[in-house]
Amino acid sequence: MRRVTLTQYLIEQQRNHGKVSPELRLLIEVVARACKAISHAVSKGPLAGIGDAVGSLNVQGEAQKKLDVIANEVLIEANEWGGQLAAMVSEEMDGPYQIPNRYPKGAFLLLMDPLDGSSNLDVNISVGTIFSVLRCPEGVTEPDDKAFLQPGAKQVAAGFAVYGAATILVLTVGNGTVGFTLDRELGSFVLTQERIMIPEDTQEFAINASNMRNWGAPVKRYIDECLAGKTGPRGKDFNMRWVASMVADVYRILSRGGVFMYPCDAKHKEGRLRLMYEANPMALIVEQAGGAATNGQQRILDIQPGALHQRIGVILGSKNEVERVTGYHTQQ
Ligand code: AHG
Ligand code: MN
Ligand code: MN
Repeated sequence: MRRVTLTQYLIEQQRNHGKVSPELRLLIEVVARACKAISHAVSKGPLAGIGDAVGSLNVQGEAQKKLDVIANEVLIEANEWGGQLAAMVSEEMDGPYQIPNRYPKGAFLLLMDPLDGSSNLDVNISVGTIFSVLRCPEGVTEPDDKAFLQPGAKQVAAGFAVYGAATILVLTVGNGTVGFTLDRELGSFVLTQERIMIPEDTQEFAINASNMRNWGAPVKRYIDECLAGKTGPRGKDFNMRWVASMVADVYRILSRGGVFMYPCDAKHKEGRLRLMYEANPMALIVEQAGGAATNGQQRILDIQPGALHQRIGVILGSKNEVERVTGYHTQQ
């Protein structure tokens, strides 16, 4: 069997589809290398005190864990010197990180959630890294917030790593969604899912049910109908899964279908997840795998962002289910 590494995959995308320039290939490879380092750090578990809080809050007022900070540093240090980026935005930093003057600047912008699911760190449950790549607007040399505020449809690449029993990297460069598994002996990501396709129908949903009292009528209706099972309006039983690490929940949906929801509710009026480095990259990955992603009202990738750390309601996964939940919102 021919083993295709991440490097080979990217070169083939460049040769056969003109999808990946050498600069974009280098950028993705550097991010993947940083993910290997983060995977290694995560796997040390309590030996490295990875779940410990560092006593600081991020821009959104959330307690930073030691590994949130380490993962952010690993990604910045790996990506700042190669010449492929103009600036970076991260969940863990208030504003754009400018490339230091001693390094050349490039044509791309990188957005990232260095460690997703960090509340699961101290309980040995999968966490991950999410990233999104945009083009830097023409003529901009010191990208400010505005340079980053582009709709998700403009992403040239998006991906995430999930540090689970295996470390898996899911990627799209706009030509389908593919999955790689880290071969720890070789130290390389090997293509293990060549064309990920999310089944259009599902009998599995993922939502934090502790927010139930805060849900709006459309979400409540959808979940009630699922819970009613075989004898209810859907005529079939549903199963529920909720990891509380978006990377792990989305990876499951890419593997066997399902619907993931973190909708706006009375407590999370703007939503819980961040548009620029959680919802947008996941929406592109899911759409490229034949699924759908909306905020209940419209396609996530069409939304014009207003702020770097803006939150958004998210409904994504198996197409027919996402369309059903979205329909319950729009046909009210
Ligand atoms: P992060 O760790 O980057 O802040 O993101 C966590 C996100 C996401 O992974 C998960 O789906 C959601 O937060 C869970 O939130 P709650 O436990 O608050 O419901
Ligand atoms: Mn996150
Ligand atoms: Mn995070």
